[in-house]
Amino acid sequence: MSTTAAADPFGSAKELHEVLARLRRESPVTEMPLPNGATAWLVTRYEDAQRALGDPRLSKAVSASGVNYRNLVPPEVGEAVTRHMLATDPPDHTRLRRLVSSAFTARRTAALRPWIEELAERLLDEMAGAEQVDLLDAYAYPLPIQVLCQLLGVPVEEQADFRGWVSAIVAGPMDVRAWPPAITAMVGYIGELLERKRRQPGDDLLSALLAVRDEGDRLTDDELTSMVYLLLIAGHETTANLIANGMLVLLAEPDRWARVVAAPELLPGVIEELLRYEGPVQAASFRTTLEPVELGGQLIPAGASVLVSLASANRDPARYAEADQLVLNRPAVPNLAFGHGIHYCLGAPLARLEAQVAFRALARRFPGIRLAIPVDEVVWRPSLLIRCLTGLPVTLNGTR
Ligand code: HEM
Repeated sequence: MSTTAAADPFGSAKELHEVLARLRRESPVTEMPLPNGATAWLVTRYEDAQRALGDPRLSKAVSASGVNYRNLVPPEVGEAVTRHMLATDPPDHTRLRRLVSSAFTARRTAALRPWIEELAERLLDEMAGAEQVDLLDAYAYPLPIQVLCQLLGVPVEEQADFRGWVSAIVAGPMDVRAWPPAITAMVGYIGELLERKRRQPGDDLLSALLAVRDEGDRLTDDELTSMVYLLLIAGHETTANLIANGMLVLLAEPDRWARVVAAPELLPGVIEELLRYEGPVQAASFRTTLEPVELGGQLIPAGASVLVSLASANRDPARYAEADQLVLNRPAVPNLAFGHGIHYCLGAPLARLEAQVAFRALARRFPGIRLAIPVDEVVWRPSLLIRCLTGLPVTLNGTR
């Protein structure tokens, strides 16, 4: 193994970017120990990352990769959480993605804008009386969760149930004890939710998927449960942390936020830069080599796990000028925050829209918002895949 504990990016949430910069320079494709005792090859340069994400020899099919999930996914629910599009290769992947892709097109998403704007205003109304709030809890999480509930047809009052499980699942497998019970609870909840929907269908995505399940052989029971599992996880932890990480970065230097307040029309470009600079998905999900694969001059053996560090690729100086600087008006150069290739994020248009609405509404209602603690006192949660804060205390109207 070609690495040292000092370069462990999984245990160093605070110094993540320094650790990744060192790996990019010294061992850009390197085998690392994982908290569950397995290992994975970490890819840190942009060019290698993009190649890896588009290479069909790096499989997403969980059946190809027992090692990532060994001792983690309880055997009795295994198939119910590992038959979704992000755990399959073509042709299953193509079939599963096609079943829901029409619900996530840019046009369908844009139609949600007025509703999301109302939701943002409502959440800000609820915050308005407070001197200090945790923006993560009061705004960054509730907004995407409620959008997702609306889209899927999940009763919004049940958000508290699945938020806790999702949080444990995305933190994993850093905490190998919390994973299995959270997955089992989530699968139980989804089963019960689908039962209720079957009895009382509505005009929502879950009802549409149930109809597909019931009318033919295009979707099995495990695939349906896995799809809902994936959407509930992928659809809110990501966007919530884009909003929270983005606000942290913007508030870290007051003139950044002042520019957004003065010119909210810059937001689409600013959001791309925030995705690049401190995006919410720090590594793409595990892939497994189906045969030996050469990447960045390194031969990865067959059957190995590969983790592509999006956080590192997006700050690669070989790709971006001033890669470690936040440049609010950076000329548009695509980044890997939403992945690349056939698994490119299905929810990217929705996530971008939610972030635009969220930042714009905050800038209008609370232009004087400030961090309530010094920037270096915010705490990052250890996680293999998600870049997330434990909280984001802010004052709404004043100066610190
Ligand atoms: C800022 C917010 C988001 C970010 C940064 C993000 C990032 C990503 C990334 C990096 C991938 C590819 C993972 C891989 O290749 O291993 C992905 C896939 C996916 N995302 Fe997102 N995502 C976000 C929001 C959303 C939303 C709002 C939804 C849906 C409601 C969603 C649904 C999905 C799905 C279904 C996939 C799997 C696509 C496939 O396998 O074909 N994401 N996302």
